[in-house]
Amino acid sequence: MARIVGGLTTSHIPAIGNAIARELFEEPYWKPFFAGYPPVLAWLDKVKPDLAVVTYNDHGLNFFLDKLPTFSVGAAAEYRHADEGWGLPVIQPFQGDAEFSWHLINSLVADEFDIATCQEMLVDHGFTVPMSLCWPEYEKFPIKTIPICINTVQHPLPTPARCYKFGQAIGRAIESYEKDLKVVVIGTGGMSHQLDGERAGFINKEFDLMCMEKIVDEPESLTRYSIHELVRLAGAQGAEFILWLAMRGALGNKVRKIYSNYHIPISNTAAGVLVLEKE
Ligand code: DHB
Ligand code: FE
Repeated sequence: MARIVGGLTTSHIPAIGNAIARELFEEPYWKPFFAGYPPVLAWLDKVKPDLAVVTYNDHGLNFFLDKLPTFSVGAAAEYRHADEGWGLPVIQPFQGDAEFSWHLINSLVADEFDIATCQEMLVDHGFTVPMSLCWPEYEKFPIKTIPICINTVQHPLPTPARCYKFGQAIGRAIESYEKDLKVVVIGTGGMSHQLDGERAGFINKEFDLMCMEKIVDEPESLTRYSIHELVRLAGAQGAEFILWLAMRGALGNKVRKIYSNYHIPISNTAAGVLVLEKE
């Protein structure tokens, strides 16, 4: 049977993709940020997942405001990166696992999640930046991937509670897959940030650190926020924290924190990374 080896979350700021492409690892601005990742790589090297199920948000590449599903699941053999406007160099395609995708899709629909199924899906920085951070040294990514988009772009957004339940359904789907696969669940985005309007540049360190702590043992306390409360506390784009809650839902009740790091700011955003294992 498939088994969840753990979950990880990381911010997906486009500037990180640019810094990776230009190899700015030792620059004073970037050094403390990249210093947060070797323990993540060591953990991935230890658990050696075969498949990454990635909950992220599309930023106007694959879906636009005219047609925007709340939840959508990739069901392709391959996912190509394309530039949605940040000018990041296009990286190599990601291998999918269509058979696993259709199991996941069937299981989610049976579990009453009315998702969009995508036999073609382009992936943007919300997907590629975390993958480049987690598997930096490879010509070809050594892992199959399943992209799952959650709308954080156009209101109404799904609530934190809904995303947590969606994650629980993802977890049930993974653990009912018959093949022996080691699966890592990755949530991307966050932490607090607001890119536009009067509060552009808004960061809420106290709220972020509280979320990083509570998501380990008391995730349900974080599901009580409404989207509007989350926007007020974490910024308009800080609502991407719902993607972390989806990851956390997939891991089940008891988890153990392996590692976390928090660094502000990168671009306009508080950058957080967290690794959890199922108990
Ligand atoms: C930034 C952060 C994001 O999450 C994003 O999707 C785009 C830009 C930023 O801080 O620059
Ligand atoms: Fe984003």
